[in-house]
Amino acid sequence: MFKFKKKKNYTGDRPGLVVVNKPSAVVSEQFRTIRTNIQFSMIDENLQTISITSAGPSSGKSVVSANLAATFANEEKKVLLVDADLRKPTVHKTFKVRNTEGLTTLLTDRGSSVSDVVFRTYTEGLYILTSGAIPPNPAELLSSKRMTEIVEEVKNDFDLIIFDLPPILAVTDAQVMSSKTDGTIFVVPKGLVNKEQVIQSRDLLSKVNAKVLGAILNRVEKNDDNYYYYYYGE
Ligand SMILES: Nc1ncnc2c1ncn2[C@@H]1O[C@H](COP(=O)(O)OP(=O)(O)OP(=O)(O)O)[C@@H](O)[C@H]1O
Ligand SMILES: [Mg+2]
Repeated sequence: MFKFKKKKNYTGDRPGLVVVNKPSAVVSEQFRTIRTNIQFSMIDENLQTISITSAGPSSGKSVVSANLAATFANEEKKVLLVDADLRKPTVHKTFKVRNTEGLTTLLTDRGSSVSDVVFRTYTEGLYILTSGAIPPNPAELLSSKRMTEIVEEVKNDFDLIIFDLPPILAVTDAQVMSSKTDGTIFVVPKGLVNKEQVIQSRDLLSKVNAKVLGAILNRVEKNDDNYYYYYYGE
């Protein structure tokens, strides 16, 4: 039986996790719809690992990754959320845990194991792997053979693994991880991205034969209560 040594002991609420804090909110319902759509799009495929990226920064990738992971966990799945944004990691902040160890520990310390660094969260079935110390060479680490091994390793322990990534137009990290995972979801912030950037992103993804599952249109207007997410498959 796979055991996790670390136990979370955070207090307070988790502002980013609307699906946990407000399960009956419209946005939580929308995440459940997105989950269903992803499940439909993977009906005949073995889809166990998902990359989440966007064209540019501050698009809602991390919010979408965490809420989607929690939504899948609510369906009695064992889900791991991985902070693979080794440049601007946020998973430890969302879940209020320390980030002294994480993905980069697994990447650089051969003696470390997944069960040493993964946190169990208060949401049943939801586990997190924070980034760990920020490295000087994220792209190199993510494209390493060791990273491929880690992806294979976590597949033995979890039903679904979601990778939160940096924007695809800025650095190669997301492109690299999209090629290592079964599917990619592209977050489009409404009004903040132009068509050329989306096309450019799609080209980068097709260059590495990434399977794009679909896009989530995110309304990032701060004081917009309607905080909508939509999903449309390709
Ligand atoms: N639908 C939304 N409505 C309101 N605020 C949102 C929404 N989605 C995201 N935000 C806010 O916008 C900011 C950026 O979101 P988030 O951190 O998820 O983006 P990101 O794409 O991961 O950014 P980065 O490129 O820095 O990793 C956060 O403060 C988040 O709380
Ligand atoms: Mg982010």
